[in-house]
Amino acid sequence: MVEDITKISIKNTDHSRLSSVDWDNLPFGKVFSDHMFTMNYANGQWENPEIVPYGNIDMSPATSVLHYGQSCFEGMKAHKNDKGEILLFRVNENIERLNISAERMCMPEIPKELFVEALKTLLELDRDWVPSIEGYSLYIRPFIIATDPYVGIRPSETYKFIIFTCPVGSYYSSSVPVKIETEYSRAVQGGTGFAKAAGNYAAALYPAKLGQDNGYTQLIWTDAKEHKYIEEAGTMNIIFRIGDKLISPKSGDTILNGITKRSVLDIARSWGYQVEERKVTVEEIIKSFENGSIQEAFGAGTAATIASINCIHYNDQDYFLPEPSEDFFSTKVLSFLNDYKKGLIEDKFNWLIRV
Ligand code: PLP
Ligand code: COI
Repeated sequence: MVEDITKISIKNTDHSRLSSVDWDNLPFGKVFSDHMFTMNYANGQWENPEIVPYGNIDMSPATSVLHYGQSCFEGMKAHKNDKGEILLFRVNENIERLNISAERMCMPEIPKELFVEALKTLLELDRDWVPSIEGYSLYIRPFIIATDPYVGIRPSETYKFIIFTCPVGSYYSSSVPVKIETEYSRAVQGGTGFAKAAGNYAAALYPAKLGQDNGYTQLIWTDAKEHKYIEEAGTMNIIFRIGDKLISPKSGDTILNGITKRSVLDIARSWGYQVEERKVTVEEIIKSFENGSIQEAFGAGTAATIASINCIHYNDQDYFLPEPSEDFFSTKVLSFLNDYKKGLIEDKFNWLIRV
């Protein structure tokens, strides 16, 4: 008999940790909801989908993901509307992107219906963990890891897919100074830059730390070949407002195809802004500071939503931008996106799914 893999077994926690959450001091990504979804892959198929109390996973020290990083992940957020219903934002696109990452990392795809079912069941069970407080949301972290206990190099034959969630407040509390990186690279043509592969983030830690030691919160990555073209800002896509145009590097092999960026640019187009997604040179950004045409620069990503940039460092020089005011595009689009995700405005782009 073929097992119905969409049948999710549920083991409830016998002691919820919800009442111990200190909402006024909630660090990003360190407080976890009561339950998690897990499912294993073996013999060519996903099996044993279950929701269990959030907790540690048991693995052999030889587990291949620990050595070779065969792993990928996603990040999305859930909000509540004023009726207390849970809303998911463009979640199908995260599922598609996880499967694009999985293919590149030689891992099995997650069937879309199963992913959605797993997520909805998990969120329904932990619905009290989805904050309705202004400025808070539930961050959702799905990921796949290779679980063969094998020290040789080859794609694993077994995997684990897990979804856990954490209530979060804001990722950055104020606008950030960034540095244009011209020595290290995040991604190369033919590499894994377009995937949310764990190793991309590990490789970025050292250059990012060097930047932080000099006072720059994030790096603006440039192309690995010439360091001439802007790629993205740390774990966010980057958007500039120069004159009346919004300009952003076009996603491709070396740039993650961000869902927040796409949303921001779709909103901008619908507001009548001219939008250019294309190659953006470091030179034109520096020129735009020199001739005063640059108005705003900001990062766009799920965790941060919009992070305003107040300073860009390049070639031993700091180029400053004003703090965003009410009439800045980034301020308006952030407030629009926040309201949109909470169902406070019409879902005219068809981006929301009700749990
Ligand atoms: N670029 C990188 C490297 C990221 O890790 C992220 C975060 O997910 C983004 C861009 C923004 O993508 P999204 O808006 O889909 O979260
Ligand atoms: C996200 O914005 O979801 C990310 O993946 C950034 C993260 C690494 C915290």
